[in-house]
Amino acid sequence: ADHMKNKILVIGSINQDMVVFAPRHPQPGETILGQDFQMFPGGKGANQAVAAARLGGNVQMIGCVGQDAIGKELLQNLELNKVEISKIKKAAAPTGTALITVAGDGQNSIVVVPGANAMLTTDDIDKLSTEIQSAKIVVLQLEIPLEVVRHAIDVAYQNKVLTILNPAPAAKIPAETLSKVTYLIPNESELSLLSGLPTNSDLEIQKAANRIFKMGCQQMVLTRGKSGAFYLSPQHKIFAPAFAVPAVDTTAAGDAFIGSFGVALAGGFALQTALTRASAAGALAVTKAGAQSSLPTKEELDAFLSKHPKSLS
Ligand code: RIB
Repeated sequence: ADHMKNKILVIGSINQDMVVFAPRHPQPGETILGQDFQMFPGGKGANQAVAAARLGGNVQMIGCVGQDAIGKELLQNLELNKVEISKIKKAAAPTGTALITVAGDGQNSIVVVPGANAMLTTDDIDKLSTEIQSAKIVVLQLEIPLEVVRHAIDVAYQNKVLTILNPAPAAKIPAETLSKVTYLIPNESELSLLSGLPTNSDLEIQKAANRIFKMGCQQMVLTRGKSGAFYLSPQHKIFAPAFAVPAVDTTAAGDAFIGSFGVALAGGFALQTALTRASAAGALAVTKAGAQSSLPTKEELDAFLSKHPKSLS
């Protein structure tokens, strides 16, 4: 029963990532030569689920794949990573796809075609409400319909289940929903869109965060890539510096951060420790190609942290 109480339930997308590695991003109308093409299991939801499971979390996923070979493979891959998949829906639509270009500096650009991810409904959430009730934390992103995300947050809130919302890809979210989220985890551009304010300096970021607090959300973790991560609430500010690593592919760095943060919270770690571990998981994900292929295990994360004690604060 104790085990069950630590359940991290990820409700989100499952994608097949089609990745080209190129020296730089092409301009509109331009053709350039790339050096490699690879496919990886991806999707922000599935990535965060796998990130949490590899770090020892007790993880279940709710989502939707197509009735195609790729969907089957992606489910097998989740299972291989010890993510509970029995409630994942199979719909008559193609499994979600992400077309990703990774440039020489490791920065990516992504086009996601949701496909089956868009077939998840609020009815599905109602049918699975016991899965939400039995979770310690529900983790959500924005690659499934917003109404589904909102409804899942409502159900979690009514049942006093903690929620993490990663508002990615960036979209506006009604204050009514933001006010029910336990931890909002945006990056700077997502925070800017959510708040309607610029986030180019520390002062601007503080103002944007204050706007979010006014909308009713009381805790935020802002991820700033190389500039580290902040926990922000109306009363507190906790900083965790980033770990300097060679950037191979930044895809899923945010997902690694969020999955790791979820595991740390479910495990009862203090916020500062949770932030540090999440930052380290994000850094490790940057050092390898692909989405789920880049997510560290608990052993890899612990080894990295013991080698980089200076970044511990
Ligand atoms: O966050 C990275 C993910 O975004 C990729 O795996 C891709 O599938 C897109 O959903």
